[in-house]
Amino acid sequence: MDEEGLAILVEDVHKSFGSVRALRGVDLAVPRGRVLGLLGPNGAGKTTIVRILTTLLRPDAGRALVEGHDVVREADAVRRRIGLAGQATAIQPELTGRENLEIIGRLYHLPRRVARDRAAELLAAFDLEEAADRPAKTYSGGMTRRLDLAASLVGEPKVLFLDEPTTGLDPRSRIAMWQIIKRLVASGTTLLLTTQYLDEADELADEIVVIDHGKVIAAGTAAELKDRVGGDVLEFTVPDGQQLAAAVAAVAPLSESEPHVDRETQQISLAVGSRGSAALLEAVRALDAAGVTIEGLVMRRPSLDDVFLAVTGHAAVAEPSAEERRGRRGRRPALVSDDGTDSSHSGDQRRN
Ligand SMILES: Nc1ncnc2c1ncn2[C@@H]1O[C@H](COP(=O)(O)OP(=O)(O)O)[C@@H](O)[C@H]1O
Ligand SMILES: [Mg+2]
Repeated sequence: MDEEGLAILVEDVHKSFGSVRALRGVDLAVPRGRVLGLLGPNGAGKTTIVRILTTLLRPDAGRALVEGHDVVREADAVRRRIGLAGQATAIQPELTGRENLEIIGRLYHLPRRVARDRAAELLAAFDLEEAADRPAKTYSGGMTRRLDLAASLVGEPKVLFLDEPTTGLDPRSRIAMWQIIKRLVASGTTLLLTTQYLDEADELADEIVVIDHGKVIAAGTAAELKDRVGGDVLEFTVPDGQQLAAAVAAVAPLSESEPHVDRETQQISLAVGSRGSAALLEAVRALDAAGVTIEGLVMRRPSLDDVFLAVTGHAAVAEPSAEERRGRRGRRPALVSDDGTDSSHSGDQRRN
């Protein structure tokens, strides 16, 4: 596609922080009115790309355009056309939701009356009317994200950036956020959204770009990425480590690709295409015939981890999150599967 029809164009962008090479030659192209899901684990470089595209950070090399304007040379023109949300940074906690939105409207030089109407309209659209006149610091996590998203829309941006809009939200707030984002997209806004969750990119994005260690490692639609995994994933644990090899041998014929064995957790996962419960039954029979005892047999949709495994041959190795660095060790952010169940145990293999 020629540059004319593109809302976002990124060409061979590099960015380092001291010795950390955060971006190592990234290319992206997002046609107007489309949704790009930038998918990758913690530390992959997602926020760095968003900060460059929103003029908060200069690239070391390469070129980035938003609505045809260069993010370095025409930063003001870019700023007038974009909105950024995700980390609730635009919200002042002491002010009410309504005051937050009205002040932002004034920052955009909207006349007082227009700013007030716009705030009211957004509060209604984001289901915040009841809480509108309470200080934002009293809002729940989901409400804060909705207010932050509303704030990013006050200036009626042509291109919207959402940096991990649902990370840390409970499943219900997450689904509510998805509904809101879908409505936005239906109105024609171009959206670049970052996420650690394949299911979120699947739900919202037309096109997905997978990044890791500052490089694009795969791109395509959700269906194309899942095809690379080989369909649904069957997963179980073998409590007796001596039986791991026998278990792999028993289920290997059912798998679309080589079964993955995590020796630490003694968990085996295999891609079983779209055979559903038939594959489940076959696996149980084969394992039983081989005399292998298993635990926690589940069938699930492919996750980001599975895509990584299929694309790179190794599991996604995430940096410790800021939370973990601060000493709150423990589970990684939950990888939430399609049915909303927590499957964060599979995140263990991502720790190095
Ligand atoms: N201001 C900074 N100073 C030093 N390193 C940074 C800074 N911002 C990001 N990084 C590093 O750059 C890499 C990419 O970070 P980031 O873009 O935040 O990843 P993501 O958003 O995908 O989690 C990581 O290694 C991160 O630690
Ligand atoms: Mg980030």
